[in-house]
Amino acid sequence: LFAGACDFLKGVVAMDGMPPDDRIEVCFAGRSNVGKSSLINAVTGRKALARASNTPGRTQEINFFTLGEDRYLVDLPGYGFAEAPKAKVDQWQQLLKAYLAGRATLRRVFLLIDGRHGAKKVDEEIMSLLDASAVTFQVVLTKADKPRGDDLEKAIERTRTVLRQHPAAFPELIVTSSEKKTGIETLRAVIAGME
Ligand code: GTP
Ligand code: MG
Repeated sequence: LFAGACDFLKGVVAMDGMPPDDRIEVCFAGRSNVGKSSLINAVTGRKALARASNTPGRTQEINFFTLGEDRYLVDLPGYGFAEAPKAKVDQWQQLLKAYLAGRATLRRVFLLIDGRHGAKKVDEEIMSLLDASAVTFQVVLTKADKPRGDDLEKAIERTRTVLRQHPAAFPELIVTSSEKKTGIETLRAVIAGME
């Protein structure tokens, strides 16, 4: 795993609540219910570090986790939750933009996309925001244990096509299942290897 403990540090709702940017930082973003919390648990090897819930839109704060002694993992609130009021969505976008622009140590955003569907419109909107912020992002397909037949292959192909239109996209995507622990070691190695 990572050298040192992986722990929940704090949840913040504004830039001034963020911990000092003195560690290499990676960030998880994705639609509500895409499996962010489950993936954080899988990557850190901690069963209930990030609360995984069945209720979409539960994670409302930007949550900071320590990954060993020298990096942070940041869990962004899920986007694209249909029932979220517009004022809340706007507020979230403001905070996200401020975070992306103001975090010098942020190395990469891992954009989690459901392996059953591939990139949706709302994911592409976030990709455009990341392009504009010039933050490199890498797609992580989640729930790869769920698609049947060649649905996963189709979702991968569709997503690759979308990625080619986004200058900030890292070309390789990572296919994961928190349930079956597929791709977790790969993702861990990418995070651990970041300088
Ligand atoms: P919010 O914080 O509410 O936006 O959700 P989240 O993105 O953190 O998703 P979470 O990890 O809470 O998972 C949502 C649901 O998907 C839960 O019911 C999980 O058990 C399920 N889930 C997550 N990862 C996987 C996976 O790899 N495979 C399967 N089959 N289900 C998964
Ligand atoms: Mg969550």
